[in-house]
Amino acid sequence: MKAIILSGGKGTRLRPLTYSGAKQLVPVANKPVLFYCIENIVEAGIKDVGIIISPETGQEIKDTVGDGGRWGIDIKYITQDVPGGLAHAIKIAHDFLADSPFVMYLGDNLIGAGIDKFVDEFQKNRPDALILLKEVEDPRQFGVAEVSSDGKVIRLIEKPEAPPSNLALVGIYLFSPEIHNAIERIRPSRRGELEITDAIQELIQMGSNVESFVLDMWWLDTGKKDDLLTANAIVLDDRLKGNISGTVDNSSRILGRVAVGKGSVIKDSTIRGPVVIGDNTVIENSFIGPHTSIGSYVKIIKSSVEHSVIMNESELRDIERLEESLVGRRVRIIENRKTHKALRLMLGDDSVVEV
Ligand code: G1P
Repeated sequence: MKAIILSGGKGTRLRPLTYSGAKQLVPVANKPVLFYCIENIVEAGIKDVGIIISPETGQEIKDTVGDGGRWGIDIKYITQDVPGGLAHAIKIAHDFLADSPFVMYLGDNLIGAGIDKFVDEFQKNRPDALILLKEVEDPRQFGVAEVSSDGKVIRLIEKPEAPPSNLALVGIYLFSPEIHNAIERIRPSRRGELEITDAIQELIQMGSNVESFVLDMWWLDTGKKDDLLTANAIVLDDRLKGNISGTVDNSSRILGRVAVGKGSVIKDSTIRGPVVIGDNTVIENSFIGPHTSIGSYVKIIKSSVEHSVIMNESELRDIERLEESLVGRRVRIIENRKTHKALRLMLGDDSVVEV
């Protein structure tokens, strides 16, 4: 069994962060989303992994992930020159996949547990596809499945206006090599892409065996701000272990599960977990509330932050209350209205500021 992870795309829904970086590298609990995908693949016993990258963000992904050595696996990179769709990504990975069955994992999808059980099920039953489904509130933004009362997949449609069910296709799929034949038979969709949803629908029409599994665990597509903050909160709740490597002075209070990286200094502050703080960060005269991830080399002075992700090298000063925010790298947020009743901003394209 092999695996491919899709790690291209423009990340339009996470702009402006994705103008300067890949959406799959945005951190959740201080770890890139993509690393959670790789770990799930490694835990399922798969050692041959291809990562599909785009010309725009491919180098950053390669630099961050490397050759897989740190996980004891072999990672190859495959460049998708045009955003041709998920089925197109499989097409260009055909040489790497050869005639092996494989997992296809979208590099911005996070689920609440491992994938070993699906890999075992797939290897036992040998269907041509095993798809994962999850009940969602608004299925129109996803691929949607129509399933019979006995659990058979009848039909799949990509982003339908009138969804036949509330079962969305999760971005983790298991395929036999038969999927390559199905991909050969489909045409680009209205958005000009070769859709994996259409290829699986083609498998059904070809009479192949398509199995499905409805997830009872959480699933988040982290390509949007609110989903990313939710994923951050859930991962901190579920997995964070308290561990203080940095320095906490006597007038600070640490409540609940808090991880503070090496070289970080906490002074005159209260940190109420679950909170993760990276290395060489300074928190002074501040309150850090639950469900917050703060990167490395960050400065938070006389401020209060809650339910947020603050990435590396950013700085907050005199900010009375910041919540539900996603702050990129090297951002400075500074209060100056005590003397000046005006906002002074320098924001990248597509920034969102709520004042
Ligand atoms: C893609 C798939 C869709 C699936 C979703 C899961 O959508 O086309 O069927 O439900 O991933 O994250 P996209 O992210 O390309 O909009």
